[in-house]
Amino acid sequence: MPILSFKDGKDIEVPSGKRLVLAIQDAGIDILHRCGGHAKCTTCRVTVLRGEPARMTQAEYERLEARGLLGEFRLSCQMLCEQDMTLVVANTVANSDVEDSGPRPAPEITPTPVWIDAPTKAAPSADG
Ligand code: FES
Repeated sequence: MPILSFKDGKDIEVPSGKRLVLAIQDAGIDILHRCGGHAKCTTCRVTVLRGEPARMTQAEYERLEARGLLGEFRLSCQMLCEQDMTLVVANTVANSDVEDSGPRPAPEITPTPVWIDAPTKAAPSADG
């Protein structure tokens, strides 16, 4: 079963194939999912420090691109636990002004996933 590691040093073992946002929340880790997991709000976004999946849903791509977040974040509601990952959760009830995390996402990815290759991250500039 995949291991999810978090910045605070917490490691959790999660069922293979589980929707990432639910795996995080069900482990007792604070994470927002304000649109209920429909790739609309981006509050479920995470930084993937290690083990980033090579594919993403078309819905995730379009939402991240529209918000200028592509290449920086991934949407945990659009991801499955298929490998070990090290993650940083961006938005929590504790660090925001909302009263709850949002409606619980369905067990399966919504909308029905259309998988595409995730864009590769830009290499650091040589003159940067
Ligand atoms: S984009 Fe809203 S919960 Fe993922």
